[in-house]
Amino acid sequence: MQTIQSSEASNRFAKCIEVSKRIRWDIDRDVLRARKFDHSKKFLPDGLSKVDQLEFLDLEERRLMSQIQGRTYANLFGLVERYIGAKMLEVSRDYWLGDQVALEALVRFTDEELKHQELFRRIERMMAADMPPGYSFVPHPNDVANAVLGKCTWAVLGLTCHIELFTQAHYRHSIQPDKELSELWKDVFLFHWKEESQHAIMDELEWQREDAKLTAEQRDQAVTDLIELVAAVDGILKWQAVADTDYFLSVCGRSFSDAQLTKLRDTMLSAYRWQYIVSGVQDERFLGILGGMITQPQMERIGAALAPIVN
Ligand SMILES: [Fe+2]
Ligand SMILES: [Fe+2]
Repeated sequence: MQTIQSSEASNRFAKCIEVSKRIRWDIDRDVLRARKFDHSKKFLPDGLSKVDQLEFLDLEERRLMSQIQGRTYANLFGLVERYIGAKMLEVSRDYWLGDQVALEALVRFTDEELKHQELFRRIERMMAADMPPGYSFVPHPNDVANAVLGKCTWAVLGLTCHIELFTQAHYRHSIQPDKELSELWKDVFLFHWKEESQHAIMDELEWQREDAKLTAEQRDQAVTDLIELVAAVDGILKWQAVADTDYFLSVCGRSFSDAQLTKLRDTMLSAYRWQYIVSGVQDERFLGILGGMITQPQMERIGAALAPIVN
């Protein structure tokens, strides 16, 4: 049984390598193509930014808010991809002198994640050059990576699988017909999704391989670790939603009523929670993989922890 499972996994890794080679893209040649961001367009689609819920904002203000969220998107992906690359190098250790197909697939995965970090760093700098001063993004990729990597491998792979699955949901939102959306941002979603599709398959394989090593007690602790990781992500989002709302207010040049200010802050946080937590944990594939590993009470424990974030 073990041999059959291993050879099935090896076939899936081989398929990931094949697709990875076929769709491999270059930042300058394929994504940027010497373009700049068009600041007369939105950076994130409404389905992600939720700006369409802010009916008291005019079109220009909605566009500004989507551009601020786009800049934070680049910063947050640069942040999570630091720890993801490091974790994949770590789990690849089991294959160094073993399955060379799995090793190659995970090395390519890490290489792609390094490239994505560079892409997000570069587009952040491009956006910054054409936006007013005052934007801030405080969490440091290495501080966050050290905190995440301190949790057990099962939980880290669970968080990673959820992230790589929600990039696919984000791509789907970006292809909805929207003439107001920046063409360059559309391409960022498209090209990132192309490589993340393979990453999600490898996350699943590695998460399940790790799961098979755990005792029931270790798995219960791992569920606790996963809940703590999601809470830590939520902590970052809360902080960034405040910083980004303050930046929006400082550059949009008009005042708002108290009720509007509350709605602005609440919508920014709920957009970030949707983008970085809810669009992943409600993904059917994620729920299927997770549900195949844990008990009903453990699933309920996760559901209870997520309830204040989802609602
Ligand atoms: Fe990525
Ligand atoms: Fe990835």
